[in-house]
Amino acid sequence: PQKIIIDTDPGQDDAVAILLALGAPELEVLGLTVVAGNVPLDLTLGNALRICELAGRTDLPVHAGCGGPLEGQLVTAEHVHGASGLDGVDLPEPTMCAAPGHAADFLIETLRREPAGSVTLVPIGPLTNIAEAFRRAPDVVQRVQRIVLMGGGTFGNVTPAAEFNIHVDPVAAGEVFASGTELVVLPLDATHKALTSPDWIEAMRACGPVGRAVAGWTSSYERFDREKYGAQGAPLHDPCAVAWVIEPGIFSGRRINVEIETEGRWTRGMTVADWWGALERKPNALFIRDLDRDALFRLMTDRIGRLDKR
Ligand code: BDR
Ligand code: CA
Repeated sequence: PQKIIIDTDPGQDDAVAILLALGAPELEVLGLTVVAGNVPLDLTLGNALRICELAGRTDLPVHAGCGGPLEGQLVTAEHVHGASGLDGVDLPEPTMCAAPGHAADFLIETLRREPAGSVTLVPIGPLTNIAEAFRRAPDVVQRVQRIVLMGGGTFGNVTPAAEFNIHVDPVAAGEVFASGTELVVLPLDATHKALTSPDWIEAMRACGPVGRAVAGWTSSYERFDREKYGAQGAPLHDPCAVAWVIEPGIFSGRRINVEIETEGRWTRGMTVADWWGALERKPNALFIRDLDRDALFRLMTDRIGRLDKR
């Protein structure tokens, strides 16, 4: 199986992404690294532990990382995810403990231990932990197989230009995008096509305890997009990154140059995606614009469903 580390700030869509990965026989999840984002770090950490317990994976190392961006103040998204970050389902207090050591050091140690080019990083929150690991140990950058991240877009969702994960820590994103690592970017352009449907939510609910949690989270999360944008369902942003690793054929995009705007009066946190190659700069990312929605949701039903069959 493909080895991955998920860097996350759960978040309902993060939760679905983690469960998708844990249910997929194609993947070996080496650990979770947790970052502040949707809610502060103490809450994202507790949520990550609850998700592992729900999946019966108390063996998984879960490391706390950075509590805020490399520069400036933390921006959170309680208005989307609720005060807990995981509103919609009441899970018990976790009994499992976080693993000792900073997330950045776990990333470094794992990348040094595993064969070079064998570990894919899947960041689905702000890129702070990844940038911090690269700052602490520049030697590990070239050991990363690739980074498959959810973030950015040719439009934003926090400002007209900036998507949340990049907006929270543009400095970190700038360093990761300039690192030379092979990048696959799942931006809003694609993830806004990954909309839940009532039928899918009901199918998940019928699976068992894990499916019921997914149904509860997504129906709570859906309310925000329905009320704010009149959307037909909730965009499952983060599962797209995990799904790309399992089945890249579901997605299509183009290798282009993407730069991060770290200043900008109106555009701080923008992923400046040169879709038409206007600047003739070297491509640094596979930028996904489209996906096969039916295939994506079939994959999620099947792989998450396996967690309830064990
Ligand atoms: C991203 O922001 C978060 O709120 C979601 O979990 C996702 O990672 C979407 O912009
Ligand atoms: Ca997230």
